[in-house]
Amino acid sequence: MRIIKTKDYQDMSRKAANIISAQVIAKPDCVLGLATGSTPIGTYKVLVERYQKGDLDFSGVKTVNLDEYRGLTHDNDQSYYYFMMHNLFGQVNIPLENTHVPDGTEPDAKKACDDYEAVVENMGGIDLQLLGLGHNGHIGFNEPADEFPKATHCVDLTESTIKANARFFEKIEDVPTQAYTMGIGTIMKAKKILLVASGKDKAEIVKKAFCGPILPQVPASILQLHPDVTIVVDEEAGALL
Ligand code: F6R
Repeated sequence: MRIIKTKDYQDMSRKAANIISAQVIAKPDCVLGLATGSTPIGTYKVLVERYQKGDLDFSGVKTVNLDEYRGLTHDNDQSYYYFMMHNLFGQVNIPLENTHVPDGTEPDAKKACDDYEAVVENMGGIDLQLLGLGHNGHIGFNEPADEFPKATHCVDLTESTIKANARFFEKIEDVPTQAYTMGIGTIMKAKKILLVASGKDKAEIVKKAFCGPILPQVPASILQLHPDVTIVVDEEAGALL
């Protein structure tokens, strides 16, 4: 596991974008695993800038996202599909048919998850998986549990996540209560993993996940067993390392 400590959010974003750029340049038809959330927004911004300057070409790149809310359509501005269109897919020359996000509109959860697992497999696996880190150590929507979930599955969102998300919706009934997420097994099969974390509120969990014991109660701790992981933290998130 390599840990790269950076100055601040911008520096973290640039260093993470360097690793993704290197992957795209070395293998123009690579499969990128992507994340949503606030942390990678700066990374996507740098990638878009490099594309605009003509330094990066996404025409052969394929992508698979980690997760999606169950029940949200693509045009819902809270869906992860919408997030990806806004922050990356709509801003670079990636063919949309090469981009994949779990289908939140598929009501049959088993079908949605089995289909998505097959999509990842049929692409020949993920070359580089980008991850953020939840305050409780979650990666994707894999929350602390008694065991590490393996394949793509449907999760019930915790009461606190539903409450936290309520501010983005008109009524509490509109807040999704479930999500489809790649499993820990799906994530661990990626050839390379890049995790980004920023801010002092992530310092405790960064230390716990990467310097503590490997436990399903801290899902990201499993990354210690992956042969090729790079963690890019800013000074605040890396303060306790
Ligand atoms: C997003 C995802 C989540 C986030 C995590 C951190 O696709 O899978 O695991 O990476 O919740 O979110 P931020 O970056 O907003 O702190």
